Amino acid sequence: MIERTMGLELHSLSLPLGPILEGYFMRFSLLEKAGGAILVTVWLLYGTIAVGNLLLPVEEPAVATTMAKAPSKQAAKTDVAPATQDLTMLLAAASPESGAKAFKKCKACHTTHSGGAHKVGPNLWEVVGRSKAGAQGFAYSSALDKFGGTWGYEDLDAYLTKPKEYVPGTKMSFAGLKKAPERAAVIAYLRSLSESPKPLP
Ligand code: HEC
Repeated sequence: MIERTMGLELHSLSLPLGPILEGYFMRFSLLEKAGGAILVTVWLLYGTIAVGNLLLPVEEPAVATTMAKAPSKQAAKTDVAPATQDLTMLLAAASPESGAKAFKKCKACHTTHSGGAHKVGPNLWEVVGRSKAGAQGFAYSSALDKFGGTWGYEDLDAYLTKPKEYVPGTKMSFAGLKKAPERAAVIAYLRSLSESPKPLP
């Protein structure tokens, strides 16, 4: 039926209508004519929708950009600030005493008093604010040696979460402290290893 209707279209395009069309329609059964009518209706509907689509895009971008802008603003907010805020709050609440207890996990490798010897790891007196790989006389891995910067609170938090992830190639063989409050307590304890502890963030 589709072929025939297409035929009709071709004929009506190339030949004078009138008798030809009439003769044509005579050859279709009622059912076929009804089918043709439905096809034409569908085409009309389709055409209307197509025209509608041509008009719509004028409004669509406006909606799309507001939608795209809103979440990216939120993402920017949540990306940067909270980590710092979280650590700041955790450090404010952290107790150096419980940090000292948690530090038992580190004692096998680190001394903490002024002038303490290096063990498997370097002495950690005055480590907060100290250059990374900055203890005199300790043979650091080249990974930490080349890392650069000083040990700020964020850096310590990142390193102690998973040393080998923050400094790939570090020779500190320690899995990491998974719990943020425990890390904050240990960092609060490290901060106390100083003549004049650095201000909290
Ligand atoms: C198995 C031994 C070992 C354990 C356990 C260990 N460390 Fe270390 N740590 C090291 C070594 C070795 C280094 C030097 C890393 C390098 O050179 O890459 C190091 C480096 C560090 C540094 C950087 C010091 C600097 O001068 O740059 C800090 C801070 C640190 N450790 C803290 C800790 C804390 C806190 C713990 C416990 C939660 C801990 N470590 C547990 C061996 C250890």
